[in-house]
Amino acid sequence: MNKIRDINNYFGDMDLFLLDLILKGKIPDNARILDAGCGEGRNAIYFIQEGYEYTGIDLDESKIRLAQYMSNNISTSKATFKVGDIHQIDDQGTYDLVICSRVLHFAESGDDFFEMWSCLAEKVKPGGMIYISMDSMIDNSLGKPVENGRFEFPDGAVRFAITEKIYAEIKKRFDLVEPLKTLVQNETRAQSFFTLRKN
Ligand SMILES: C[S@@+](CC[C@H](N)C(=O)[O-])C[C@H]1O[C@@H](n2cnc3c(N)ncnc32)[C@H](O)[C@@H]1O
Repeated sequence: MNKIRDINNYFGDMDLFLLDLILKGKIPDNARILDAGCGEGRNAIYFIQEGYEYTGIDLDESKIRLAQYMSNNISTSKATFKVGDIHQIDDQGTYDLVICSRVLHFAESGDDFFEMWSCLAEKVKPGGMIYISMDSMIDNSLGKPVENGRFEFPDGAVRFAITEKIYAEIKKRFDLVEPLKTLVQNETRAQSFFTLRKN
């Protein structure tokens, strides 16, 4: 038996701080989960295997097809993957956990970021949580400001980034579940991770 391979098959290649939430027992067994900008479902594998009610949306139809294919091959799956835009999430209802991992730095401007943030926040049940990972200018100064809240990072890409000011603004209707942490990746880009609870 290869225990490392078993752990990897169980959790997949999920965001480290999402795994941290699971290991700390912060995600209830019966949670309804929305993965906004789910891509190919990297963060979904554990939740699908555990039979969570999991909805993934993404702009990219080819990624949705791959995520749905992966899900169809897991017998416990209660997951649905569909094409959708964070700016206009058209399904009914709210969720115990909204995951938005590595997506919000594609915002075109501060207005665009806050528009997406409002749509995501609306989808969180009162008492539910939102998990975010995205590029960041908090606790680092790697990015050079370009325009509209976007920064050029040493990896050459221009992306939107969360700042202390934006973080303070979005925390207003939420309590802290896990404090923000910033990971600087080999001086090329920096990403922040945080989890908030809707009050
Ligand atoms: C870097 S990938 C991250 C995928 C996944 N969340 C993960 O952590 O592996 C960014 C994804 O966000 C999706 N995306 C970007 N803007 C979006 C939007 N407005 N609505 C839905 N998906 C979006 C892209 O199509 C892409 O699949």
